Amino acid sequence: MYTTNAINPEKAIDRSVADQPPAEEDLYFEQNPAPEYLPEFERKLSEFLTNNGTRKVAVVTSGGTTVPLENNTVRFIDNFSAGTRGATSAEYFLENGYAVVFLHRQFSLLPYSRHYTHSTNCFLDYMVESETEPGSVKVDEKYQVQMLDVLRKYKQAQKDNTLLLLPFTTVTQYLFSLRCIALTMSKLHVDTRCVFYLAAAVSDFFMPTSRLPQHKIQSSGGELVVNLDPVPKFLKRLVEAWAPRVMIVSFKLETDESILESKAKTALERYNHQLVIGNLLQTRKKEVIFVTLEETEKYSLTDEEEKEGKEIEEIIVPEVIKRHDVWQEKVCN
Ligand code: PMT
Repeated sequence: MYTTNAINPEKAIDRSVADQPPAEEDLYFEQNPAPEYLPEFERKLSEFLTNNGTRKVAVVTSGGTTVPLENNTVRFIDNFSAGTRGATSAEYFLENGYAVVFLHRQFSLLPYSRHYTHSTNCFLDYMVESETEPGSVKVDEKYQVQMLDVLRKYKQAQKDNTLLLLPFTTVTQYLFSLRCIALTMSKLHVDTRCVFYLAAAVSDFFMPTSRLPQHKIQSSGGELVVNLDPVPKFLKRLVEAWAPRVMIVSFKLETDESILESKAKTALERYNHQLVIGNLLQTRKKEVIFVTLEETEKYSLTDEEEKEGKEIEEIIVPEVIKRHDVWQEKVCN
């Protein structure tokens, strides 16, 4: 008689082999196509990092990601963000000696040019026809001082090759790009001197490629019901697997003040990263909170400072840099 319950060690479960199905973050990368430009993106990034030698690096993400509803995209869902926080912060990182990888939504605000684009003025309003040199154009006297200051900083960043602009549009492009940056940082051993400053507003829902219609959805079909899948939370992957030695700062945007701090704390506990900067839609240009597991600190502009045109990022960025220095000490020792 044979037995049905004999133990054969050869067939026992091999604990060294993962028995979990692939994590949803990994499935996302398998099921959605990588942007065609990714190899070129990686080449540019590697070159930039190599050229910047031992300089500290800030990866600043900025602007909102889109979710296309059609493959040949006419309609898409967007996330709120003009790119002000990211573009402004990038300038202060550069001023503090960092090289900046600026992963931004295409056509959102950029460091330096932000002062003159998307403003209430048309860029031509900053110009006048020269009286001394007829037929030529010059900057209006009232903008000279500020524009010269911005121009010098912009030219310096170009000369030093310390600012790399990398655009994205869709949430899928953003996620592939973010992963590529994190993995390249580790590969080139830049990770310990790098801070990720995640100010982009990332879609929480998306339309998987498998359900994306090829052509423009026809209105003759009547009412449109859109069924979106949740985007896996990538922060966890970033912290644990792609960039464990990088200091990671995420942003939390809320509209209800009473939940801001608790939501920021929940994110820290869930993702186990270093800092969440909380802001309210209504007051984001004037006030933020820095939330760590140990404490919450508030930083704000006084009315006077606001009137003088001081920017909250001038306070946020040096504070992040202080914490980055402490983090680097910890990781390197
Ligand atoms: O550009 P402005 O107009 O100046 O606006 C700036 C801002 C208000 C958009 C910015 O300061 C800000 O708060 N950005 C974060 C917005 C936000 O709350 O995003 P979120 O809740 O979708 O994501 C929070 C964090 O989780 C992000 O750091 C993101 O990288 C991460 N995330 C999000 C979605 C997702 N699927 N995976 C993630 O890991």
